[in-house]
Amino acid sequence: MPLEFPPQLIEILRSAKSIAILTGAGISAESGVPTFREAQTGLWAQYDPTELATPEAFRRNPKLVWEWYEWRRALVAKASPNPGHVALANLESQLTARGSRFTLITQNVDGLHQRAGSQNIVELHGNVWRTKCFDEDVVVDSWPDTNEAPPHCPHCNGLLRPDVVWFGEPLPRPALDAAVDAAQSCDAFFSIGASSLVHPAASLPYLAIERGALTVEINPDETPLTRAMTHSLRGKAGEILPALLKALSL
Ligand code: APR
Repeated sequence: MPLEFPPQLIEILRSAKSIAILTGAGISAESGVPTFREAQTGLWAQYDPTELATPEAFRRNPKLVWEWYEWRRALVAKASPNPGHVALANLESQLTARGSRFTLITQNVDGLHQRAGSQNIVELHGNVWRTKCFDEDVVVDSWPDTNEAPPHCPHCNGLLRPDVVWFGEPLPRPALDAAVDAAQSCDAFFSIGASSLVHPAASLPYLAIERGALTVEINPDETPLTRAMTHSLRGKAGEILPALLKALSL
């Protein structure tokens, strides 16, 4: 039975000049990447991610934190973009082809939106496929393969770390500014697969609401954001997004 969408949603999306999308771990769930708050598996089941994804954890035990991210990179490398990622990439190409502005703001660090073909991506929390020097805070593209965990920076011999935002760290200013600008200037804002618990990302939808944009949440569960949204589509991103793209038949 095809999914039904509110006619107002279809109309506004068809005529929107600017669309902003915020995605969270939920959009990668159907790719087999565990969401941030899902129980971790195997060796890492004993650790709470919020205890590992911090500068303090890295200073205390850099090897443990580096190996946790090696495990997460291996998980993501085995994953593929799912129909939700692909539908967003197709929506972007169709909307930008007709001159609309499309901004994909993601809290995810798995790089699956890039692999699905999305172009205008704002990475609020960084990307596990990029590495930076813990001391110099600059991205490092290559380093001698010494099997050290973590490896050392080829410039200053400091420790290398994943280029992701850890708890207690500020978001990259350019990414946050781009996300705020997109939320404050869009006609339609989607929050997809986000628990809306972690700020400042969770405040972006409210900027769109203040602007009077049409706001849509896609999530199998209710979140603190649900009641404030124009529409709340209860279900999986990998099912709803392809159906929405079809219903738009741009
Ligand atoms: N489709 C859509 N949403 C889904 C799906 C799905 N198939 N499966 C799960 N979800 C929803 C869950 O209901 C939940 O609301 O995705 C959300 C995932 O929430 P979290 O695990 O909290 O992930 P996220 O919101 O991205 O966390 C925010 O906080 O933990 C830090 O930096 C980390 O980026 C992360 C941020």
